[in-house]
Amino acid sequence: MRAVARKQLRFRMAGPETVASLLEWYDRERRDLPWRAAPGRRPDAYRVWLSEIMLQQTTVGAVIPYYERFLRRWPDVAALAAADLDDVLAAWAGLGYYSRARNLHKCAKLVATEHGGRFPDTPEALGELPGIGPYTAAAIAAIAFGAAAMPVDGNIERVTARLFAAKDALPGAKAKIRRLAQSLTPAKRAGDFAQAMMDLGATVCTPRRPSCLMCPLERDCAAHAEGIEALLPAKAAKPERPLRVGIAFLALREDGRVLLRRRAEAGLLGGMLEVPSTEWNDILPPIEEALRAAPVRAEWWAVPGTVTHTFTHFRLEMMVYRAVVPAESSLTFWADPQRCSWVARHDLSAQALPSVMRKIIGHGLKEQ
Ligand code: ADE
Repeated sequence: MRAVARKQLRFRMAGPETVASLLEWYDRERRDLPWRAAPGRRPDAYRVWLSEIMLQQTTVGAVIPYYERFLRRWPDVAALAAADLDDVLAAWAGLGYYSRARNLHKCAKLVATEHGGRFPDTPEALGELPGIGPYTAAAIAAIAFGAAAMPVDGNIERVTARLFAAKDALPGAKAKIRRLAQSLTPAKRAGDFAQAMMDLGATVCTPRRPSCLMCPLERDCAAHAEGIEALLPAKAAKPERPLRVGIAFLALREDGRVLLRRRAEAGLLGGMLEVPSTEWNDILPPIEEALRAAPVRAEWWAVPGTVTHTFTHFRLEMMVYRAVVPAESSLTFWADPQRCSWVARHDLSAQALPSVMRKIIGHGLKEQ
Protein backbone atom coordinates (compact mmCIF):
# COMPACT_ATOMS: atom_id res chain seq x y z
CA MET A 1 0.00 0.00 0.00
CA ARG A 2 2.79 2.40 0.99
CA ALA A 3 4.78 1.52 -2.11
CA VAL A 4 1.81 2.38 -4.32
CA ALA A 5 1.26 5.66 -2.50
CA ARG A 6 4.94 6.59 -2.93
CA LYS A 7 4.82 5.81 -6.64
CA GLN A 8 1.76 7.96 -7.14
CA LEU A 9 3.43 10.85 -5.33
CA ARG A 10 6.34 10.73 -7.76
CA PHE A 11 4.12 10.48 -10.81
CA ARG A 12 3.87 13.57 -13.03
CA MET A 13 1.45 13.89 -15.94
CA ALA A 14 3.01 13.74 -19.38
CA GLY A 15 3.76 17.25 -20.61
CA PRO A 16 6.64 19.54 -21.64
CA GLU A 17 9.00 18.08 -18.99
CA THR A 18 8.36 14.66 -20.46
CA VAL A 19 9.51 15.93 -23.84
CA ALA A 20 12.62 17.51 -22.32
CA SER A 21 13.52 14.31 -20.42
CA LEU A 22 13.11 12.21 -23.53
CA LEU A 23 15.22 14.52 -25.70
CA GLU A 24 17.97 14.53 -23.05
CA TRP A 25 17.89 10.76 -23.06
CA TYR A 26 18.00 10.69 -26.87
CA ASP A 27 21.07 12.93 -26.90
CA ARG A 28 22.87 10.36 -24.70
CA GLU A 29 21.45 7.09 -25.92
CA ARG A 30 20.26 7.45 -29.52
CA ARG A 31 20.93 4.54 -31.82
CA ASP A 32 23.62 5.20 -34.37
CA LEU A 33 21.76 4.53 -37.65
CA PRO A 34 23.23 5.25 -41.08
CA TRP A 35 20.40 7.57 -42.21
CA ARG A 36 20.64 9.75 -39.11
CA ALA A 37 22.55 13.03 -39.32
CA ALA A 38 25.09 14.02 -36.67
CA PRO A 39 23.47 15.67 -33.61
CA GLY A 40 22.22 19.15 -34.41
CA ARG A 41 22.38 18.61 -38.21
CA ARG A 42 19.46 18.19 -40.61
CA PRO A 43 19.64 14.91 -42.50
CA ASP A 44 19.37 14.73 -46.29
CA ALA A 45 15.70 14.28 -47.28
CA TYR A 46 16.56 11.63 -49.89
CA ARG A 47 18.21 9.47 -47.22
CA VAL A 48 15.36 9.94 -44.80
CA TRP A 49 12.79 9.09 -47.46
CA LEU A 50 14.72 5.99 -48.63
CA SER A 51 15.12 4.70 -45.07
CA GLU A 52 11.49 5.34 -44.17
CA ILE A 53 10.19 3.49 -47.24
CA MET A 54 12.44 0.53 -46.43
CA LEU A 55 11.46 0.62 -42.76
CA GLN A 56 7.75 0.41 -43.64
CA GLN A 57 7.92 -3.34 -43.68
CA THR A 58 11.08 -4.53 -41.98
CA THR A 59 13.20 -4.07 -38.88
CA VAL A 60 16.08 -1.62 -38.60
CA GLY A 61 18.60 -4.49 -38.56
CA ALA A 62 17.31 -5.97 -41.81
CA VAL A 63 17.11 -2.59 -43.54
CA ILE A 64 20.67 -1.34 -42.87
CA PRO A 65 22.50 -3.48 -45.51
CA TYR A 66 19.84 -2.71 -48.14
CA TYR A 67 19.94 0.99 -47.33
CA GLU A 68 23.73 1.08 -47.61
CA ARG A 69 23.71 -0.81 -50.91
CA PHE A 70 21.04 1.47 -52.40
CA LEU A 71 22.87 4.57 -51.30
CA ARG A 72 26.20 3.41 -52.76
CA ARG A 73 24.53 2.60 -56.06
CA TRP A 74 22.06 5.51 -56.21
CA PRO A 75 23.51 8.28 -54.01
CA ASP A 76 20.79 10.84 -54.73
CA VAL A 77 17.25 11.14 -56.04
CA ALA A 78 18.44 11.97 -59.59
CA ALA A 79 20.50 8.77 -59.73
CA LEU A 80 17.58 6.66 -58.53
CA ALA A 81 15.20 8.38 -60.97
CA ALA A 82 17.56 7.47 -63.84
CA ALA A 83 17.89 3.82 -62.73
CA ASP A 84 16.35 0.93 -64.60
CA LEU A 85 13.23 -0.35 -62.79
CA ASP A 86 14.44 -3.96 -63.04
CA ASP A 87 17.71 -3.05 -61.30
CA VAL A 88 15.76 -1.37 -58.51
CA LEU A 89 13.49 -4.40 -58.15
CA ALA A 90 16.47 -6.76 -58.05
CA ALA A 91 18.20 -4.62 -55.38
CA TRP A 92 14.94 -4.64 -53.40
CA ALA A 93 14.53 -8.44 -53.50
CA GLY A 94 14.28 -9.78 -49.96
CA LEU A 95 12.69 -6.61 -48.57
CA GLY A 96 9.26 -7.84 -49.74
CA TYR A 97 6.27 -6.05 -51.29
CA TYR A 98 7.62 -5.08 -54.67
CA SER A 99 4.86 -2.55 -55.16
CA ARG A 100 6.87 -0.47 -52.66
CA ALA A 101 9.96 -0.65 -54.87
CA ARG A 102 7.89 0.33 -57.90
CA ASN A 103 6.48 3.30 -56.00
CA LEU A 104 9.96 4.18 -54.76
CA HIS A 105 11.16 4.45 -58.34
CA LYS A 106 8.03 6.31 -59.47
CA CYS A 107 8.41 8.75 -56.59
CA ALA A 108 12.10 9.39 -57.37
CA LYS A 109 11.15 10.18 -60.98
CA LEU A 110 8.40 12.56 -59.90
CA VAL A 111 10.64 14.36 -57.42
CA ALA A 112 13.39 14.63 -60.04
CA THR A 113 11.13 15.90 -62.84
CA GLU A 114 8.27 17.76 -61.17
CA HIS A 115 9.79 19.01 -57.92
CA GLY A 116 13.18 20.10 -59.26
CA GLY A 117 14.95 17.27 -57.42
CA ARG A 118 13.79 18.42 -53.96
CA PHE A 119 11.34 16.62 -51.73
CA PRO A 120 8.43 18.77 -50.55
CA ASP A 121 8.64 19.66 -46.84
CA THR A 122 5.08 19.31 -45.49
CA PRO A 123 3.24 16.10 -44.58
CA GLU A 124 0.40 17.10 -46.93
CA ALA A 125 2.61 17.57 -50.01
CA LEU A 126 4.72 14.52 -49.19
CA GLY A 127 1.55 12.47 -48.85
CA GLU A 128 0.68 13.17 -52.49
CA LEU A 129 3.74 11.27 -53.70
CA PRO A 130 3.57 7.56 -54.60
CA GLY A 131 4.30 5.17 -51.75
CA ILE A 132 4.10 7.85 -49.05
CA GLY A 133 1.17 7.30 -46.66
CA PRO A 134 0.33 9.45 -43.62
CA TYR A 135 2.90 7.73 -41.38
CA THR A 136 5.81 8.10 -43.79
CA ALA A 137 4.79 11.66 -44.71
CA ALA A 138 4.86 12.64 -41.02
CA ALA A 139 8.20 10.85 -40.47
CA ILE A 140 9.92 12.57 -43.41
CA ALA A 141 8.43 15.99 -42.63
CA ALA A 142 9.54 15.76 -38.99
CA ILE A 143 12.97 14.15 -39.45
CA ALA A 144 14.15 15.84 -42.65
CA PHE A 145 12.42 19.22 -42.29
CA GLY A 146 11.69 19.64 -38.56
CA ALA A 147 7.90 19.91 -39.09
CA ALA A 148 5.86 19.38 -35.90
CA ALA A 149 4.41 16.10 -37.16
CA MET A 150 4.27 12.79 -35.31
CA PRO A 151 4.64 9.51 -37.21
CA VAL A 152 2.83 6.97 -35.05
CA ASP A 153 4.16 3.46 -35.68
CA GLY A 154 3.81 0.41 -33.44
CA ASN A 155 6.62 1.53 -31.14
CA ILE A 156 5.25 5.01 -30.66
CA GLU A 157 1.76 3.61 -30.22
CA ARG A 158 3.00 1.40 -27.38
CA VAL A 159 5.00 4.14 -25.65
CA THR A 160 2.06 6.55 -25.90
CA ALA A 161 -0.56 4.06 -24.71
CA ARG A 162 1.58 3.37 -21.64
CA LEU A 163 2.52 6.97 -20.96
CA PHE A 164 -1.16 7.96 -20.83
CA ALA A 165 -2.48 4.57 -19.58
CA ALA A 166 -4.83 4.45 -22.59
CA LYS A 167 -6.67 1.20 -22.00
CA ASP A 168 -8.96 0.95 -25.05
CA ALA A 169 -7.99 -1.94 -27.34
CA LEU A 170 -6.23 -1.57 -30.68
CA PRO A 171 -7.01 -1.17 -33.52
CA GLY A 172 -10.05 0.84 -32.31
CA ALA A 173 -7.86 3.02 -30.08
CA LYS A 174 -5.52 4.09 -32.89
CA ALA A 175 -7.04 7.53 -33.47
CA LYS A 176 -7.08 8.37 -29.77
CA ILE A 177 -3.47 7.24 -29.29
CA ARG A 178 -2.42 9.25 -32.34
CA ARG A 179 -4.03 12.36 -30.84
CA LEU A 180 -2.26 11.78 -27.53
CA ALA A 181 1.11 11.33 -29.27
CA GLN A 182 0.53 14.43 -31.39
CA SER A 183 -0.29 16.41 -28.22
CA LEU A 184 3.28 15.85 -27.01
CA THR A 185 5.02 16.79 -30.28
CA PRO A 186 7.25 19.81 -29.64
CA ALA A 187 7.59 22.71 -32.09
CA LYS A 188 11.39 22.40 -31.87
CA ARG A 189 13.27 19.16 -32.52
CA ALA A 190 10.13 17.32 -33.68
CA GLY A 191 12.27 14.92 -35.76
CA ASP A 192 14.50 14.07 -32.80
CA PHE A 193 11.43 13.66 -30.61
CA ALA A 194 9.81 11.21 -33.04
CA GLN A 195 13.03 9.23 -33.31
CA ALA A 196 13.48 9.31 -29.54
CA MET A 197 10.01 7.78 -29.16
CA MET A 198 10.94 5.13 -31.76
CA ASP A 199 14.21 4.35 -29.97
CA LEU A 200 12.55 4.21 -26.57
CA GLY A 201 9.97 1.77 -27.94
CA ALA A 202 12.63 -0.37 -29.61
CA THR A 203 15.11 -0.56 -26.73
CA VAL A 204 13.43 0.24 -23.38
CA CYS A 205 9.63 0.31 -23.65
CA THR A 206 9.56 -3.10 -25.32
CA PRO A 207 6.35 -5.12 -25.82
CA ARG A 208 6.70 -7.84 -23.22
CA ARG A 209 9.19 -6.78 -20.58
CA PRO A 210 9.71 -3.04 -20.56
CA SER A 211 12.87 -1.94 -18.70
CA CYS A 212 11.13 0.69 -16.58
CA LEU A 213 14.15 1.14 -14.29
CA MET A 214 16.17 2.39 -17.25
CA CYS A 215 13.37 4.54 -18.65
CA PRO A 216 13.77 8.33 -18.74
CA LEU A 217 9.95 8.58 -18.53
CA GLU A 218 9.43 6.32 -15.54
CA ARG A 219 7.99 9.21 -13.50
CA ASP A 220 5.76 10.33 -16.35
CA CYS A 221 4.24 6.97 -17.15
CA ALA A 222 0.63 6.56 -16.01
CA ALA A 223 0.64 2.83 -16.83
CA HIS A 224 3.77 2.32 -14.70
CA ALA A 225 2.16 4.20 -11.80
CA GLU A 226 -0.71 1.73 -12.00
CA GLY A 227 1.61 -1.25 -12.54
CA ILE A 228 -0.07 -2.20 -15.83
CA GLU A 229 2.62 -1.19 -18.35
CA ALA A 230 3.19 -4.75 -19.63
CA LEU A 231 -0.55 -5.10 -20.37
CA LEU A 232 -0.69 -2.10 -22.71
CA PRO A 233 -1.51 -1.47 -25.45
CA ALA A 234 -4.53 -3.77 -25.19
CA LYS A 235 -5.29 -5.59 -28.41
CA ALA A 236 -8.56 -6.96 -29.74
CA ALA A 237 -8.31 -10.66 -30.68
CA LYS A 238 -7.20 -11.10 -34.31
CA PRO A 239 -8.76 -13.62 -36.65
CA GLU A 240 -6.19 -16.25 -37.74
CA ARG A 241 -4.67 -15.92 -41.19
CA PRO A 242 -6.21 -18.55 -43.48
CA LEU A 243 -3.98 -21.28 -44.91
CA ARG A 244 -3.53 -21.72 -48.66
CA VAL A 245 -1.73 -24.61 -50.29
CA GLY A 246 -0.26 -25.39 -53.70
CA ILE A 247 2.35 -27.34 -55.65
CA ALA A 248 5.35 -25.62 -57.27
CA PHE A 249 7.18 -27.21 -60.21
CA LEU A 250 10.92 -26.65 -60.26
CA ALA A 251 12.27 -27.63 -63.69
CA LEU A 252 16.02 -28.11 -63.58
CA ARG A 253 17.77 -28.29 -66.94
CA GLU A 254 20.72 -30.62 -67.47
CA ASP A 255 22.93 -27.55 -68.00
CA GLY A 256 22.03 -26.38 -64.46
CA ARG A 257 19.47 -23.69 -65.35
CA VAL A 258 16.11 -23.43 -63.62
CA LEU A 259 12.85 -22.33 -65.15
CA LEU A 260 11.37 -19.10 -63.83
CA ARG A 261 8.32 -17.21 -64.97
CA ARG A 262 7.35 -13.55 -64.60
CA ARG A 263 4.09 -13.09 -62.70
CA ALA A 264 1.29 -10.89 -63.96
CA GLU A 265 1.85 -7.18 -63.29
CA ALA A 266 -1.29 -6.78 -61.17
CA GLY A 267 -1.80 -8.44 -57.80
CA LEU A 268 0.37 -10.14 -55.23
CA LEU A 269 4.11 -10.09 -56.06
CA GLY A 270 3.13 -8.34 -59.30
CA GLY A 271 5.74 -8.53 -62.06
CA MET A 272 8.14 -10.62 -59.99
CA LEU A 273 9.70 -13.93 -60.97
CA GLU A 274 8.16 -17.17 -59.74
CA VAL A 275 8.52 -20.91 -59.87
CA PRO A 276 5.46 -22.06 -61.88
CA SER A 277 2.82 -23.62 -59.63
CA THR A 278 -0.77 -24.61 -59.26
CA GLU A 279 -3.10 -21.95 -57.91
CA TRP A 280 -2.87 -21.35 -54.17
CA ASN A 281 -6.17 -22.59 -52.72
CA ASP A 282 -7.75 -24.02 -49.58
CA ILE A 283 -7.05 -27.61 -50.66
CA LEU A 284 -4.55 -29.31 -52.95
CA PRO A 285 -5.84 -30.42 -56.35
CA PRO A 286 -5.60 -34.14 -57.24
CA ILE A 287 -2.14 -34.81 -58.68
CA GLU A 288 -3.34 -35.41 -62.29
CA GLU A 289 -4.97 -32.00 -62.25
CA ALA A 290 -1.96 -30.38 -60.54
CA LEU A 291 0.37 -31.74 -63.23
CA ARG A 292 -1.50 -29.61 -65.75
CA ALA A 293 0.19 -26.61 -64.13
CA ALA A 294 3.66 -28.11 -64.75
CA PRO A 295 5.56 -26.05 -67.31
CA VAL A 296 7.35 -28.95 -69.01
CA ARG A 297 6.28 -32.51 -69.76
CA ALA A 298 8.64 -34.51 -67.59
CA GLU A 299 8.92 -37.04 -64.85
CA TRP A 300 8.08 -34.97 -61.75
CA TRP A 301 9.16 -36.10 -58.27
CA ALA A 302 7.90 -34.72 -54.99
CA VAL A 303 10.67 -33.25 -52.83
CA PRO A 304 10.07 -34.41 -49.22
CA GLY A 305 8.81 -31.70 -46.84
CA THR A 306 7.04 -28.41 -47.52
CA VAL A 307 7.83 -24.71 -47.74
CA THR A 308 5.85 -22.26 -45.62
CA HIS A 309 5.57 -18.52 -45.93
CA THR A 310 3.41 -15.89 -44.24
CA PHE A 311 1.88 -13.10 -46.29
CA THR A 312 -0.13 -10.24 -44.81
CA HIS A 313 -3.49 -11.91 -45.35
CA PHE A 314 -2.75 -15.62 -45.49
CA ARG A 315 -0.22 -18.34 -44.78
CA LEU A 316 1.06 -20.43 -47.65
CA GLU A 317 2.24 -24.03 -47.56
CA MET A 318 3.77 -25.33 -50.78
CA MET A 319 4.85 -28.78 -51.89
CA VAL A 320 7.67 -28.73 -54.40
CA TYR A 321 7.95 -31.14 -57.34
CA ARG A 322 11.17 -31.28 -59.25
CA ALA A 323 12.20 -32.67 -62.66
CA VAL A 324 15.53 -32.79 -64.43
CA VAL A 325 14.92 -32.09 -68.11
CA PRO A 326 17.08 -32.13 -71.26
CA ALA A 327 18.61 -28.83 -72.41
CA GLU A 328 16.37 -28.71 -75.49
CA SER A 329 13.10 -29.23 -73.55
CA SER A 330 10.20 -27.29 -74.90
CA LEU A 331 7.68 -25.58 -72.69
CA THR A 332 4.00 -26.38 -72.68
CA PHE A 333 1.97 -23.57 -74.21
CA TRP A 334 0.09 -23.03 -70.94
CA ALA A 335 3.39 -22.23 -69.23
CA ASP A 336 3.29 -19.05 -71.36
CA PRO A 337 6.77 -19.23 -72.95
CA GLN A 338 6.84 -15.43 -73.43
CA ARG A 339 7.01 -14.97 -69.67
CA CYS A 340 9.43 -17.85 -68.97
CA SER A 341 13.21 -17.92 -68.90
CA TRP A 342 15.90 -20.43 -67.98
CA VAL A 343 18.08 -18.83 -65.35
CA ALA A 344 21.56 -20.08 -64.46
CA ARG A 345 21.84 -21.07 -60.82
CA HIS A 346 24.71 -18.64 -60.19
CA ASP A 347 22.50 -15.79 -61.49
CA LEU A 348 19.64 -16.50 -59.09
CA SER A 349 20.89 -14.16 -56.37
CA ALA A 350 20.79 -11.19 -58.78
CA GLN A 351 17.18 -11.81 -59.80
CA ALA A 352 14.13 -9.99 -58.49
CA LEU A 353 12.90 -13.07 -56.66
CA PRO A 354 10.47 -12.80 -53.76
CA SER A 355 11.57 -14.56 -50.58
CA VAL A 356 8.83 -17.18 -50.91
CA MET A 357 10.28 -18.16 -54.31
CA ARG A 358 13.81 -18.24 -52.92
CA LYS A 359 12.55 -20.65 -50.26
CA ILE A 360 10.87 -22.83 -52.90
CA ILE A 361 14.01 -22.93 -55.07
CA GLY A 362 16.20 -23.63 -52.03
CA HIS A 363 13.94 -26.50 -51.02
CA GLY A 364 13.70 -27.86 -54.57
CA LEU A 365 17.46 -27.82 -55.07
CA LYS A 366 18.24 -29.55 -51.76
CA GLU A 367 20.34 -32.63 -52.20
CA GLN A 368 18.27 -35.75 -51.63
N1 ADE B 1 11.40 3.04 -37.89
C1 ADE B 1 10.82 3.80 -38.83
N2 ADE B 1 11.51 4.95 -39.01
C2 ADE B 1 12.57 4.89 -38.17
C3 ADE B 1 13.65 5.76 -37.88
N3 ADE B 1 13.78 6.91 -38.52
N4 ADE B 1 14.52 5.40 -36.92
C4 ADE B 1 14.37 4.22 -36.30
N5 ADE B 1 13.39 3.35 -36.52
C5 ADE B 1 12.49 3.68 -37.44
